[in-house]
Amino acid sequence: MCQLTRNTLQHRVSLLAFLILILAAPLAHALEKQPVSVYHTRRVALAEKLQGGVTVLFAAEEPLLDFMPYRQDEDFYYLTGWNEPGAALMIVADAPTAAQPRSYHEVLFLPTRNLRMEKYTGIKLDAATPNAAKTAGVDEVLPMTDLPIQLNKLISADRRLGSNIWTQPDAAQAKALMGWTAATLGDATTPAAHDVTSLTMQLRVVKDAGELALLKKAADASIAAQRVMMRSTKPGVTERAIAGKILAKLMEDGCERPSYAPIVGAGINSTTLHYSDNSATLADGDIMVVDAAGEYSMYASDITRTVPVNGHFTARQREVYDVVLGAQRAAAAAFVAGKSTINDPYHRDPNSLDTVAWNYINTHGKGLHGEPLSDYWIHGLGHMVGINVHDPSNYPAVLKPGMVFTIEPGVYIPEEKIGVRIEDVFVVGEDGKLIDLIASLPHTADDVEAAMRSDNK
Ligand code: GLY
Ligand code: MN
Ligand code: MN
Repeated sequence: MCQLTRNTLQHRVSLLAFLILILAAPLAHALEKQPVSVYHTRRVALAEKLQGGVTVLFAAEEPLLDFMPYRQDEDFYYLTGWNEPGAALMIVADAPTAAQPRSYHEVLFLPTRNLRMEKYTGIKLDAATPNAAKTAGVDEVLPMTDLPIQLNKLISADRRLGSNIWTQPDAAQAKALMGWTAATLGDATTPAAHDVTSLTMQLRVVKDAGELALLKKAADASIAAQRVMMRSTKPGVTERAIAGKILAKLMEDGCERPSYAPIVGAGINSTTLHYSDNSATLADGDIMVVDAAGEYSMYASDITRTVPVNGHFTARQREVYDVVLGAQRAAAAAFVAGKSTINDPYHRDPNSLDTVAWNYINTHGKGLHGEPLSDYWIHGLGHMVGINVHDPSNYPAVLKPGMVFTIEPGVYIPEEKIGVRIEDVFVVGEDGKLIDLIASLPHTADDVEAAMRSDNK
């Protein structure tokens, strides 16, 4: 092979390697997205709930503090899979009988690129980028500057639409848009926007197959992290070191962040429900509650396990542990799709799994002074899980196929320094049966002790 040809070939190979590198590099950190058609289907489903109105949703802004990673607004992500700050989504619903009939259309508004800031934040897409709509997976992309113009045009063509706008109640941009729209329309009063999150909540509560796959990945990474916790726990280690090992394993297994601040509480700290100071050192003989899980491509998991710091539950710790586990199992066994409900902290609903778990705890085991252990359980039995670890829902919620929720009974006895919580994430399958996403993580006291002895790193 002559020198010239070899150089040319080497150059081409280098170029190809470079191209693969720059194309693959962003993917290596990218969130796993669902097909663009899925987000489109969700937008159409939301449009059907707008009663002929219009919704405008805003993306989350850049975080204020440098150490905070960017996290997209949950509804915005659910509807677009778009993970950049500063955008807005408008969905116009079919309104064939409006003063000026409207048909479904959707626009993603993108902010003007800031080339100087892109040196810090990386390259962004804007409306002028070739194929922007195809890249973003939406019907149309326009510059953000067009948003008030588009809204003004729609309302000036049909003034009644002014009272049928849906947006996020807490977004500063939404308030500004509504105020500016009123000013440009010459209205004395700002149109009253409806809360679009009350509609997205109805969609988000039932998960599709792609969401279930991501929730499974979040669960699997979180199970692996909890196993690391079990193997790392021993007297003298700090709660914070345990939290650090959990975080490291979550990220190693593809999570972008924990789905909430890890709760690692030993001894008296095990009795504080959302303890997250994680500042104590583990002492021989103590019990430890570890409520920690990760978020995988925006989908959360939520797991709690309770372990003995020295690897062996005392008889009393085991007694309380078995009551809590029995309550979790009783609730899961009583489950009936379409009938059972979750999150009924005062157990007023005879169909709630909370009532089942409470009855179990109330009739098994006692406190130091003979009081029922149910006196030491003060929270709801569970909640929906999805893009948010506490996904939105009205409660108590009737549990139906496609819903994902936790069962997490707990008993917290400060005078004995014993807190026990056991928490798994469950899916209601299409056949109405419960699927425990955390089934493979030890549940019984014996299995927890065995996992702590395991040297399978
Ligand atoms: N990790 C928070 C909760 O279990 O609700
Ligand atoms: Mn939970
Ligand atoms: Mn939890």
